[in-house]
Amino acid sequence: MMAMSNADIQIEPKLDIEKIRADFPILSRKVHGKPLVYLDSAASAQKPKQVIDALVSAYSDTYSNVHRGLHFLSEASTDAYEAVRGKVAQFIGAQTGDEIVLTAGATMSLNLIAQCWALPRLKAGDEILISIAEHHANIVPWQMVAEKTGAVVRAFPLDADGSFNMSAFTDMMSPRTRIVSVPHVSNVLGTVFPIVEIARVAHDANALMIVDGCQGAIHMPIDVQNLGADFYVFSAHKLYGPNGVGVLWGRGEILAEMPPFLGGGDMIDRVTIEKSTYALPPQRFEAGTPAIAETIALGAAVDYVQSIGMEAIRQHEQDILLYAHQRLSAVDGLRLIGTAAGKSGVVSFTMDSAHPHDISTIIDNDGVAIRAGHHCAQPLMDFYDLPSTARASVGVYTTREEFDCLAVALEKVNRIFA
Ligand code: ALA
Repeated sequence: MMAMSNADIQIEPKLDIEKIRADFPILSRKVHGKPLVYLDSAASAQKPKQVIDALVSAYSDTYSNVHRGLHFLSEASTDAYEAVRGKVAQFIGAQTGDEIVLTAGATMSLNLIAQCWALPRLKAGDEILISIAEHHANIVPWQMVAEKTGAVVRAFPLDADGSFNMSAFTDMMSPRTRIVSVPHVSNVLGTVFPIVEIARVAHDANALMIVDGCQGAIHMPIDVQNLGADFYVFSAHKLYGPNGVGVLWGRGEILAEMPPFLGGGDMIDRVTIEKSTYALPPQRFEAGTPAIAETIALGAAVDYVQSIGMEAIRQHEQDILLYAHQRLSAVDGLRLIGTAAGKSGVVSFTMDSAHPHDISTIIDNDGVAIRAGHHCAQPLMDFYDLPSTARASVGVYTTREEFDCLAVALEKVNRIFA
């Protein structure tokens, strides 16, 4: 069972969840005639009207291309777009907005690091160390680099309950380790990786330290300076923002040494037919017309969560997760997958009576949305010798009552398959 310390006990006023839920238009809809119980925020979070309004306004009031025009709308659009860089920098404790590369999503961010940092540097026999709990986005880009360079991708295991095990990690470090790349929070297990300690080990070995923060930045306050990594990436759509936008934070001095990934407009200094020189980071990594309105709406998402407070969100979600574990543990034949102390965000499980896909399909009839499958983490499924799991996940708007609905729906699954 997930452990909670005194530090986890509510010290701030509880969130006004009804008010927060009222911000999300979709939460009041019905599915199959039943009130929607949305427990799939880890896959993609719903959007508050503040974000939707910002997206509409970016198209209705200020839309124009950025960095290219001298007319009123282009300047308004550029100002709104560029302001997001500073907002995101402040949100995650980056030193400056110049350390924020705006990408198409976390997957793009990780591929960018792989292509721009790793590919030019790695040699045959060099090692890239990841965990067994990676999302495919933190596996496949490294395999692509390994194929071209002769480097090797290795993965360290976790404990059976999903806990991070420092010696299992350090045992896999070697003099050839050039990159350590781990999730901040596992999207299947909820395990919170001790980034500060992992970064220290990585840096003592002169390895680059990368954090896939997709399931981290959405659940807790982030200070990239304190975490001590070299890169931290996340996607807007899991942070109540729009699709198609992501963040790549990198240390300024490291970004400065990286060649670009994509060539095109907006990333250059000077172009002749013979050769081109490149803009400084972050523009160097942002070829072509970006997702302008969506980036502006990411700024609104950051404003939104900050108006609630990331610490308040963390406390609310921890309370819900603790309740979820207690409530679901009472369901006959249900096995929780991932019970590490201090876990965050997700509850994965299997049931003796039914396959995860059947569970998900049946409870959908009661308006309950969860994810079932391998969660883009097939090596982790192999590690647990499971084909898939069911996964419920929490967001700022999740209530205890929604986990009551899930538990009741799961008891119905048991009855159907009895
Ligand atoms: N990475 C997302 C998830 O865990 C899609 O569901």
